[in-house]
Amino acid sequence: MGDKKIFVDQDKCRKDDLCVKICPGGLISRAHPDGFPEMRQFDDGMCMGCGHCVAVCPHGALTHSDVRSDKCPPVKKELSINMEQTIQFLRSRRSIRFFKDKSVEKDKIESLIQIARYAPSGGNTQSVQWTVIHDRSTIKKVASLSIEVIRNHIADNPDGVWASTAYIPEIVRNWDMGKDEILWDAPVLILASAPFQMESGKEDLILALSYLDLAALSMGLGTCWTGSFTGSIEFSDSLKNELGLTRDHTSYYSMVLGYPKFRYKRLIQRKEPEIIWK
Ligand SMILES: Cc1cc2nc3c(=O)[nH]c(=O)nc-3n(C[C@H](O)[C@H](O)[C@H](O)COP(=O)(O)O)c2cc1C
Repeated sequence: MGDKKIFVDQDKCRKDDLCVKICPGGLISRAHPDGFPEMRQFDDGMCMGCGHCVAVCPHGALTHSDVRSDKCPPVKKELSINMEQTIQFLRSRRSIRFFKDKSVEKDKIESLIQIARYAPSGGNTQSVQWTVIHDRSTIKKVASLSIEVIRNHIADNPDGVWASTAYIPEIVRNWDMGKDEILWDAPVLILASAPFQMESGKEDLILALSYLDLAALSMGLGTCWTGSFTGSIEFSDSLKNELGLTRDHTSYYSMVLGYPKFRYKRLIQRKEPEIIWK
């Protein structure tokens, strides 16, 4: 047994060095008198708990105080998806803007957030915080606050980006006519946020939301990123308060979620990629 962070079952360990080679910080060595892997003592604080050492071991010989082997089930080969399935899955995700008049079960939302935890994060900090609004009257209230922010911003900045982006003034006009194009009458609004101290907080939360976005598709749910709404949050303390956004959570993004009203029968075309080979 090592005395730091990693624990090696000497009956199972084959001394194959996989954990030593895979550790991104080079923190594991076989300096132990019996040749078993152990974490180099002086580097202990540098371990980011990524779990690669646990995941790579074919013998289940290694566990880690933050990534316990009993919480890391074996990869099931029979569940792997092939390239064709992956392409169809990724190409078939659509932004969903029309939802059934049906609430989303809390346990389904929780499952989605559980999956989103497996998105990568800078330094494996896993600092994303989730706020879920699943009360329609609160969603209406924050949508209305957002519209007022946008309306005032356009009035104060007639030459600004919002005023000159065709669809933004249209969102306000349509709201006044009873059509919600800011949060799309969705039954759920999800906000991911991260504290400003986290250097990669924004990237981490966008990746986590992307995981959630894709996982929703597999559960018969649909999402839409809500950039206009998110943009309005910055200008309104009332919105921040209503969303429970604390002062130090300066990175955030939101998306709506619900059961899609319509199904798409075809994949869609995209522009050709611009690739610069060097
Ligand atoms: C960062 C981001 C912000 C977005 N903001 C909005 C938004 O405010 N309102 C909206 O209806 N769609 C929004 N969308 C959805 C895009 O319009 C949509 O992804 C794009 O048209 C492609 O369609 P698809 O998602 O169905 O493939 C946003 C998408 C992204 C990635």
